[in-house]
Amino acid sequence: MSKQNALICSKTGQEYSINDLRWKSEADAPLNIRFMPTFDKNVIRMRSANMWRYREALPISFDTNIVSFGEGATPLQTLELGTKKLILKLDFMFPTGSYKDRGASVLVSKMKELGIKHAIMDSSGNAGAAIAAYCAKAGILLDVYAPESTSSAKLTQIIAYGANLKLIKGTRQDATFAALEAIENKNSYYASHAYNPFFFQGTKTFAYEICEQLGWKAPDTIILPAGNGTLIIGAYIGFRELLKAGITTKIPKIIGVQVAACAPLYQAFTQELLHIPNIEIGKSYAEGLMVATPVRGMQIIQYVELTGGYFLAIDEEEIKEKTLFLTKKGYFVEPTSAAVFAGACEYMKIATDDEVVVSVLTGSGLKAENAISEMIKT
Ligand SMILES: Cc1ncc(COP(=O)(O)O)c(C=O)c1O
Repeated sequence: MSKQNALICSKTGQEYSINDLRWKSEADAPLNIRFMPTFDKNVIRMRSANMWRYREALPISFDTNIVSFGEGATPLQTLELGTKKLILKLDFMFPTGSYKDRGASVLVSKMKELGIKHAIMDSSGNAGAAIAAYCAKAGILLDVYAPESTSSAKLTQIIAYGANLKLIKGTRQDATFAALEAIENKNSYYASHAYNPFFFQGTKTFAYEICEQLGWKAPDTIILPAGNGTLIIGAYIGFRELLKAGITTKIPKIIGVQVAACAPLYQAFTQELLHIPNIEIGKSYAEGLMVATPVRGMQIIQYVELTGGYFLAIDEEEIKEKTLFLTKKGYFVEPTSAAVFAGACEYMKIATDDEVVVSVLTGSGLKAENAISEMIKT
C-alpha cells in the first residue's frame, strides 16, 4: 500500500489518491507526490529531444492525456567569467518564453487526465502565461489572478491565449489571496504553480536534462531563482530521483537567489528562523522574485540546507548591470533572470577551478521589454 502513487500531506503525512482533486491537505498544508520514476538510458537516448523523453518518470497515466508542444531539452552553454566557466541552461527557450512551461505541461496533462474543465491560478505573469497556453491546447477554461504591476507583455500573452485575466490591485500576495477566495466561492480546481505538486513533477525535468547533457552526471553546484521555489523544489526532486535510481552519485549543492527588495527565505535562513518572517517588500526589476510569503518556504529552505547550500540576496544595481551585461553577450533575458545570473557571478568568485557549476536563464527579455528599454536609456 505504502508503495502506491499518492498525494501526501507535507505536515502530517496523511495520504490521498493521486487522482484526488484536492490542492491542499485537511491540515491546510501543501501536498507532495509519492511516485517511483524509472529511467532506461537506452530508451531515453532514442527519443525526441524534449522533456517527455523521460516519460516513465512523469506521473501521467495515459499518453493520450499529454499536453505538450514538444518543449524542453534546452541548450547548456558555457560562459567564461575570468578564469572560471559557468554553465547556463537556456530555459527562456520555451514555447511561452519561460521555464514555467516545464511545470505547465505536466500540470495541465494531469488536469486533462482528471477531466477538469475550469481552473483558477495566480501568478506574477510567467506561470499564468504558461498555464494559459497549455490550457488553450487542452481546451480548459482558466482564470488568472495577477497583480496590476505585471509586465504588459505577460498580461497580453495571458489574454491572447484565451484565459480570463483578473487584474488585482496590490502585491503578488494580494493576487494569491484573491485567487484563494475565488477557489472557495467557485469550487474550482486550483492550478497553482506554488501549491499544486504536479507542477514540480514538470520542473524536475530540469535536473534530468542537465544530468543527461553532462553525460549522466550531476553537477557540483546549481544556482537557481528562489521566488516560489518551483525550480528549486523541482530540481531537488529530480536530482534525488536520479540518485535513488543509481544514475548519479550526488545531489548538487543548491544556491537560492533572492532580491534584497524581497528576501524572506534569505532572512529566515541567515537568522535560522523556524518560520518565514513577515517582511516589508521594496521595489524590484525582478518581478518573478517578488514573493513575500512563499507557501512552500520552509520546504525550499529544507531542500537547500540538505544540499549544503544557502541563499543570496541581490540588489537592484546588480540586476540592472547584469541584465545589460547579458545583452552584450547576446542573451536578451528578463531582469528576474539577470538577478539569478548576478547570484551565479557572486558564487563563481568562490567556486573552485574544477567545480561544475550550472545556473539558468529563466525568462525571455521580450517579456520585460519596457524595463530593459528603460535600463538602456539610463
Ligand atoms: C522568469 C522567472 N524567473 C524566476 C522566477 C522565480 O520562480 P521560482 O522561484 O518559483 O522557481 C519566476 C517566477 O515567476 C520567473 O517568472
